[in-house]
Amino acid sequence: MTQLSEPIAETSAGNTGSFSPIVHLRNGGVSLVIDLSAGRLPVILYWGEDLGEIGESELKNIALVSVPSVVPNDLDVPELVEILPLASGGWRGLPGLEGHSTSGTDWTPLFTATSIAADATTLTVRATDDEAGLTIVLDVELLSTGLLRQRAAVERTGSGEFTLDGLQLTLPVPRRASELLDLAGRWGRERSPQRMPFSVGAHQRDSRRGRTSTDASTILAAGTPGFGFGTGEVWTMHVAWSGNHREYAERLSNGTSLLGGGELLLSGEVRLQTGDRYESPWVYGSWGRGLDDAAARFHGYLRGRQTHPSSPRKVVLNTWEAVYFDHNLERLTELAASAAEVGAERFVLDDGWFLHRRDDSAGLGDWYVDEDVWPGGLDPLISAVTELGLEFGLWVEPEMINPDSDLARAHPEWILSPASRLPVPSRNQQVLDLAHPGAYTYILDRLSDLLNAYDIGYLKWDHNRDLLEAAHSTTGAAGVHEHTLALYRLLDELRDRHPGVEIESCSSGGGRVDLGILERTDRVWGSDVIDPLERQTIQRWTSQLIPPELVGSHVGSPKAHTTSRTQSLSFRAGTALFGHFGIEWDITKASAEDRAELAEWVALYKEVRSLVHTGRVVRADGLDESALLHGVVSPEQDEALFAYVQLATPLTAIPGTIPLPGLDDDAVYDVTVQSPGDNARRRSHTAAPWTAEGSLRLTGRTLRTIGVQVPALHPEQLLLLRVRKVA
Ligand code: DGJ
Repeated sequence: MTQLSEPIAETSAGNTGSFSPIVHLRNGGVSLVIDLSAGRLPVILYWGEDLGEIGESELKNIALVSVPSVVPNDLDVPELVEILPLASGGWRGLPGLEGHSTSGTDWTPLFTATSIAADATTLTVRATDDEAGLTIVLDVELLSTGLLRQRAAVERTGSGEFTLDGLQLTLPVPRRASELLDLAGRWGRERSPQRMPFSVGAHQRDSRRGRTSTDASTILAAGTPGFGFGTGEVWTMHVAWSGNHREYAERLSNGTSLLGGGELLLSGEVRLQTGDRYESPWVYGSWGRGLDDAAARFHGYLRGRQTHPSSPRKVVLNTWEAVYFDHNLERLTELAASAAEVGAERFVLDDGWFLHRRDDSAGLGDWYVDEDVWPGGLDPLISAVTELGLEFGLWVEPEMINPDSDLARAHPEWILSPASRLPVPSRNQQVLDLAHPGAYTYILDRLSDLLNAYDIGYLKWDHNRDLLEAAHSTTGAAGVHEHTLALYRLLDELRDRHPGVEIESCSSGGGRVDLGILERTDRVWGSDVIDPLERQTIQRWTSQLIPPELVGSHVGSPKAHTTSRTQSLSFRAGTALFGHFGIEWDITKASAEDRAELAEWVALYKEVRSLVHTGRVVRADGLDESALLHGVVSPEQDEALFAYVQLATPLTAIPGTIPLPGLDDDAVYDVTVQSPGDNARRRSHTAAPWTAEGSLRLTGRTLRTIGVQVPALHPEQLLLLRVRKVA
């Protein structure tokens, strides 16, 4: 129940003086206490563990104990840290709202709440500054998994133009959150963790690449010292936006600490005329006991959406690393037949099928099947694929345009660029201005026509360059904001027109992984690096936000194309098993033995996907850097699959006992080594003696506290453990 210090109702302008509630939102094991007593924008007093039912006087006292002291040579009143922190409340950190009218005024608003509406889990506040001519509408929601989200809209109520330079929403964290962790990355190595002290100042992550980007922080976490996957308290934040964005952690010299984030606006990108409105993306926050707990709230939320894929996630064969641009009906039909033989369920024709696209230098924009390469169109291939029982999927990169394309020759004005020159090239391509009605309609029609003409169940939607100097060429004004909105519109419209079609979000690999794109797509491509050694880390940290069923993970060829490492099939497949499994390898050239083993892995994936795609992701703390353990435990805690992964040679010869987290302490389980591959073949003298027994019976408590001995593995090997509750 929402608890307020006063009965709550919609208030209207003028009577806020008598209305000074303190709101307590509770949901999913989390509490949020919000102070509205100043009659201004909301101030979050507390975000963390559920406080239980609290009486009115307790709420008032929480407000009282939260008021910071006034110290010499500082403000004469306590600083008011509103969700959009502003100088008018005494805030001296990064501003929650930046902007100005044409005369340079209205830049320091002071908002007064004019209406407040709340229920058990949501709060909406409307606040106005009549002098500045601005109104803010702020939504706060505490979702059933305990995930918190907030967003704001700015309305220009005054006369004249108001240029909005930035809007950042913040979430407070307590002083004991003294460490930060976020994710860094680049193409081929997305989402690598970096840890640092949460010291005075701002740790700021800006993405000015016009897309979520491979170097996005994805999540920014603050936690108690040494927080881990299962230990410590952690507060994490994510901005659900696929254009430019900012995330930051800021600690002021007075100790006030917060996480902030929002869209990053380019100069002049949002200019509001009277009556115009800017809406921010949702900014999500997840509190948890350990990173696993924080991740589970995101996963639960995503899994609870009506649009969340509910059918078993099909085994994919993607043609990219199998054939690249070498498209040929005979060869691809043979590949599809091999795919069907090993048990694949979907065949995705990647880049190279459309006009002028013989390599990556030309053709983007010319979304017509190249009849020179595909005489008779795609029908012969699609028929072959569907007759084999596979669904057909197609690669597209709709937002991009090669200067060497019919489209660019016909419509150079559709390229996002300053009027007189093109931005620095990247992969020989430029970006289409989707906010241009002509470009938008052309792309929507081309994609729709393809989906109408062919039996296509899946689109891989790629996006392979950063947006630089992304201006509407006709006006010269910055256009990333509008481009991003147009992309969302386009995806929404396509999904409305073709409801059964699944869409994958890919961007130079894992460069578009965010909850904004996932509102309208069905999976993300984790990385162009399929090398399982790299993938172990990428998937581990991608799962801080996204559950396994939404992260594409493929078995590549024995020698990884992007790193040149050679790895066993067990390591490759045992890694792909913990995502949305696929194959990206010319298996027509694989040995019969490899194909037979691959078929076994596909069969195992089909057997465990209902567990992996619904269970709780757990990651063990305390292993040395040479190894890691992760797993998925079913919601009922009656089943689990763990992988112990040897990344490098360990300093000590024997790994020792490795605890298995996440099980029911009081239940009894059978633990077995899961075949196939290396797990079945491992020579007994390197195996842990218990594995000779076949299976081991232990309680969840013993498995959590002591665990099991794992065999000494070579680097780049993994051990799969299957755990089943004894009836
Ligand atoms: C980048 C993607 O990440 C790859 O998987 C592949 O689709 C290529 N683009 C195709 O150009």
